[in-house]
Amino acid sequence: MAERVVIFDTTLRDGEQSPGISLDPIEKLEIAEQLAKLNVDYIEAGFPVASQGDFDAVSEIAKQIEGPTIAALSRTHLADVDRCWEALKHAEKARIHVFISTSPSHLEHMLKMTPAQIIKETKAGVYRAKQYTEDVEFSPQDATRTPYDFMLEVLNAAVESGATTLNIPDTVGYGIPWDFGALIANIRKEIPGDYIISTHCHNDLGLATANSLAGVQNGARQVEVCVNGLGERAGNAALEEVVMALAIRSDLFPGLTTQIRTEELAKTSRLVSRLTGYPVQYNKAVVGRNAFAHESGIHQHGVLSDRSTYEIIDAKSVGQTGSQIVLGKHSGRHAFTDTLAKMGITLHGDAVNASFKRFKELADKKFEITEADIEAIVAQEMGVA
Ligand code: KIV
Ligand code: ZN
Repeated sequence: MAERVVIFDTTLRDGEQSPGISLDPIEKLEIAEQLAKLNVDYIEAGFPVASQGDFDAVSEIAKQIEGPTIAALSRTHLADVDRCWEALKHAEKARIHVFISTSPSHLEHMLKMTPAQIIKETKAGVYRAKQYTEDVEFSPQDATRTPYDFMLEVLNAAVESGATTLNIPDTVGYGIPWDFGALIANIRKEIPGDYIISTHCHNDLGLATANSLAGVQNGARQVEVCVNGLGERAGNAALEEVVMALAIRSDLFPGLTTQIRTEELAKTSRLVSRLTGYPVQYNKAVVGRNAFAHESGIHQHGVLSDRSTYEIIDAKSVGQTGSQIVLGKHSGRHAFTDTLAKMGITLHGDAVNASFKRFKELADKKFEITEADIEAIVAQEMGVA
């Protein structure tokens, strides 16, 4: 039987930490409903202690969303954990996600705590969370810049206190795939117990998706991701990229699967973009408007013969409309005549050559040629303009 890679969506928590994004509880609920349709395993709905609005959003999502488990973030402070549970308590299934920083930089400049205090805090926070729910996740923040032996000590303390998921945050996007993968494999080897390992990769070096996949290859069975790759600074690993990489290169992840309904990906991306005000870059993998668009003549010729020549994903399988042939200065006769045929225009003999020549002249002056432009070209050629 296939083994599940758990998709833990943190668009509503880490994604909302993108500069300039602030979602109200109703907007968060709308996104959570769509995430449930997408069939993610976990929705991290917020950080209840951060604000009353975030508390209310987590609470509403916990009350109303069925299907995914609802998670919320908490520092190790006991009062934070209590508040986190207060927001989550109506959920059908709930997870408390407890975190504390472990890197020397964070200990010295932010927490002003000793390693011994971190261990004590970890035990107390995780233990408190465990009094409320079986499902407790623990994260040593800035794990990839934490001395390895100390990180193991903290993770051991978390498991002994009841954590069932150990999340390894690459908080500042410092990891490189083979290095991050080795870290995950070593943790699996060194920490005994019944838990799953999770990745949480930021994109400061543009490696968040690659690092998440390296984690899975080395034993992680949960990935933390955000729709459209939202998140602090350069963002988090993009949900749509990780999910489609696991699906399209399943040959490299034998026996592993997600339960994501990929046909909902484009719609989810558009909703998140509209409500956050963050545009999706045109050439964004999977959900960008150009992800299935072809402009050059050679590519268009290939795709018009068989889309597998230049596409590895079926656009419809991710909710996009299909391959798009965009007419521009690199386009060739195949694309031009195919567009004429789709527009129901039949030209004969020299008229095709002459219209194609006019089209090329116009394409040199204009980025994209529309159907209205084609109609005008044909009309001129036929002497009706
Ligand atoms: O990036 C990070 O370290 C986090 C933790 C709170 C998991 O978002
Ligand atoms: Zn993060």
